[in-house]
Amino acid sequence: MAQEKRPRKAVIIYYSMDGNTKQIAERVHETIGAPLIRLEPVVPYTGTDEEIIAQGQEEVERCYQPELKPLGIHLQAYDTFLVGTPTWWYTMASPVRSFLSMVDWRGKTLIPFQTHAGWPGHGLEDMERLCQGAEVSCPMTIHFSPQQFGKLETPQKELDRWLSELRVL
Ligand SMILES: Cc1cc2nc3c(=O)[nH]c(=O)nc-3n(C[C@H](O)[C@H](O)[C@H](O)COP(=O)(O)O)c2cc1C
Repeated sequence: MAQEKRPRKAVIIYYSMDGNTKQIAERVHETIGAPLIRLEPVVPYTGTDEEIIAQGQEEVERCYQPELKPLGIHLQAYDTFLVGTPTWWYTMASPVRSFLSMVDWRGKTLIPFQTHAGWPGHGLEDMERLCQGAEVSCPMTIHFSPQQFGKLETPQKELDRWLSELRVL
């Protein structure tokens, strides 16, 4: 007898400092209609670009997990997590590391997406490694211009193809 497919309960979680990852997360939200949640560290990142880049490097090097503000959802209520991160020093941003470490991934599905400015490094692989027990589906990297925030370098068609894959999950 064919097993009935249980409808998935999905949520979109992302961190964005300058808006690129937010832009993609909002496209995902428009496409699949799941709740959209932006991660907010308790202590916001402040300072000059150079200071933030240096702080990001220091945090990435020690795998730092900043404390996050409450998400306002019950994680247990969801089985599919679409998680978006900017690239920080060839991996995920620290607030995303904090979030991924909070979830018991057994039986859950992770759909990771990562924005970058030309050097994605090993962000998606690192995310997957943190989510032991998760089924990983439809990973995506999206290239933005290093000169101009918000300017997509990944062809729009490629992004649309990924979004349409999400629609039928
Ligand atoms: C601390 C820090 C480190 C970064 N490291 C990288 C990197 O290793 N590779 C890369 O392509 N872009 C890197 N970037 C650029 C961002 O990943 C890229 O602009 C991203 O799309 C920004 O997303 P957001 O606007 O959602 O914050 C870095 C940015 C910051 C702030």
